[in-house]
Amino acid sequence: MAESKVNDLMERIVSLCKRRGFVFQSSEIYGGINGFWDYGPLGAELKRNVKGFWWRVMTQRRDDVVGLDATIIMHPKIWEASGHTTTFADPMVDCLLTKKRFRADQIEPQSGVVYHYSGARDLRQWSNFKKIYSEPEFMTITDFMERYIKTKDGSPDRVNLNKVFEHEYQPKPNTPSLDMLETIYTASKCDDPYSVLLAPGKNPDSARKVARQFYAQRGIVEARLLEERTEKVENSTRYNPENGSLLTEARMFNLMFKTYVGPVESAENTAYLRPETAQAIFAQFKNVAEVSRQKVPFGICQIGKAFRNEINPRNFTFRSREFEQMELEFFIRPDEAIEAICGSVARPAGPGHPGEPQANWGWQMWHKYWVEERLAFYESIGLPRTTLVEYWQKPEELAHYARATVDILYKFPFSKRDAAGELAGEELEGIAARSDFDLSQHQRFSGKAMGVFDEELKLAWAKLDEAKKAALSERYFESRRNYLVKTNEDPGKAEAKAREDAVGLARGSYVPHVIEPSAGVDRLALALICNAYGEDTAPDEKGKMETRVVMRFHPRIAPVKAAVFPLLKNKPELVKKAREVRDLLRPHMTVFYDEAGAIGRRYRRQDEAGTPFGVTIDFDTLGEQGAELKDTVTLRERDSMKQSRVKIEALAALLLERIR
Ligand code: GAP
Repeated sequence: MAESKVNDLMERIVSLCKRRGFVFQSSEIYGGINGFWDYGPLGAELKRNVKGFWWRVMTQRRDDVVGLDATIIMHPKIWEASGHTTTFADPMVDCLLTKKRFRADQIEPQSGVVYHYSGARDLRQWSNFKKIYSEPEFMTITDFMERYIKTKDGSPDRVNLNKVFEHEYQPKPNTPSLDMLETIYTASKCDDPYSVLLAPGKNPDSARKVARQFYAQRGIVEARLLEERTEKVENSTRYNPENGSLLTEARMFNLMFKTYVGPVESAENTAYLRPETAQAIFAQFKNVAEVSRQKVPFGICQIGKAFRNEINPRNFTFRSREFEQMELEFFIRPDEAIEAICGSVARPAGPGHPGEPQANWGWQMWHKYWVEERLAFYESIGLPRTTLVEYWQKPEELAHYARATVDILYKFPFSKRDAAGELAGEELEGIAARSDFDLSQHQRFSGKAMGVFDEELKLAWAKLDEAKKAALSERYFESRRNYLVKTNEDPGKAEAKAREDAVGLARGSYVPHVIEPSAGVDRLALALICNAYGEDTAPDEKGKMETRVVMRFHPRIAPVKAAVFPLLKNKPELVKKAREVRDLLRPHMTVFYDEAGAIGRRYRRQDEAGTPFGVTIDFDTLGEQGAELKDTVTLRERDSMKQSRVKIEALAALLLERIR
């Protein structure tokens, strides 16, 4: 799709979101606040449905996952242990002209000709000279001064230039002394170097214009640009794609929002709004494992707000500064423990879902399992497989502790296109195999044991032959030492600590590894909105075809499940019956009751809201066309616009089956 059509589609989606109350700009009456969004009545329902269904699938329908609801502000040590205080940063650059801020790694590479300047002089200070010299003479004297100020007092060059001045310029009436000229000239300068990138073939004057604007901001009103030189560049990310101006050098910017706990704003009272929900799960791992009497493998999941001071929030709600996450930390045995217990470790045999979890699954099987489970989840709420991309991060993209990460991408209309012109997709969720990094870090920083005791492992280990014990011990020792060395532990201490851990494994103790499916609620809501948006044609009241905007949400996550309409609002019997039907459905689902306007208009309003079913109470319902139609209603389906007659007594069961 052409760029303008994509923008047009996104504009229509954003406009519908506001018009129908899915999403509003936060603090709109004060001009909004960048990166923050509010959800209106329909958006709030949509989000609740998404979170509710995720919670049902990820914990309520499983024996091996339990939930957590932790605080947003936690002990600041948590963020030291997780690495967020030191490494949760993005490279940031600013446009030297407009001050607009960009994420350095998101700048589109550009090619062209760069115009470099070493600085500028303000010719305004020289206005008196313009009365003495013609314009070309004036420029030559500025050239002369430029050379003159670079010479040293008493040097042969300066002596020569003094002579030139005496012969060429001094004879003109009213010419000030060379000393005075030097004072004026040197006072009116800016030595900041600056560059502008121009696309190939563009007029150099546009580079000069941008450069003059740059120097004007530094007080140089009438700029004479100094030492212009050009350079061809390919795929440079040093220039603002919007105006060609040079950007600042990249600086790292920590994305965590800071606050203070208590009345004193001091370093020791500094706390952070959590940038992810995951860390609370790790910090509460021991408590949850104990009270829920879960044994590894098992998971803890959480839904909640997260905050990131994103440098460049963009694409509507896609990259926000406040958003919600749905995260699962699924704890598993290290592969060495599985091998000790089961004799070998099962690994994925090929593509597709690996089936029901088995005792001999190592991290690769669990990782594959969760990737497939999560893809199935997205399909079950109406995102077709063709709109999703399963992206396996390349080794160089992985975090140092991660063994594998799969990003599930959705092909948003604003996604970039790949070489074949296909939408590449943007991340909805990451599923990472994070080794035992997280719990190990909290063990180190808190000094509290985060390992588990595994009776089955202890018994199995005792039965292994010595060669097997030695081989598994050595492998476990190596992986623990690697972790410790990577976290800057002294090599001697790392060796000793890793040996202790290997002895612990032989006794049935280890720090669990983790698989982390981590999804964003807001990104998913946006994907569902983009996916649902459609335009087709439908007849108006007079039978004339008109454009219909329809949100084709899967009934499972649709904000409103059924709309109930009395055919006419001025017929008390119809209104009474319609209210009865509304009250019959309301305990089971979200129902919208609407009696205002022509029935066609009411249908259209619900199509835009994405309500999958319309229930109309008409004269047939009252039995006016015969007893066989009495207590039946018209059921209209949003997508096909097909209508059928359904008995009121069968209605709730029929709809429930379709929306679960
Ligand atoms: N605990 C792992 C973690 O937080 P992440 O990839 O940084 O991983 C997980 O975030 C998910 O959270 C992303 O896939 C995305 O859906 C959502 N997310 C992250 N940053 C976001 C932002 N600025 N705005 C909206 N959603 C965001």
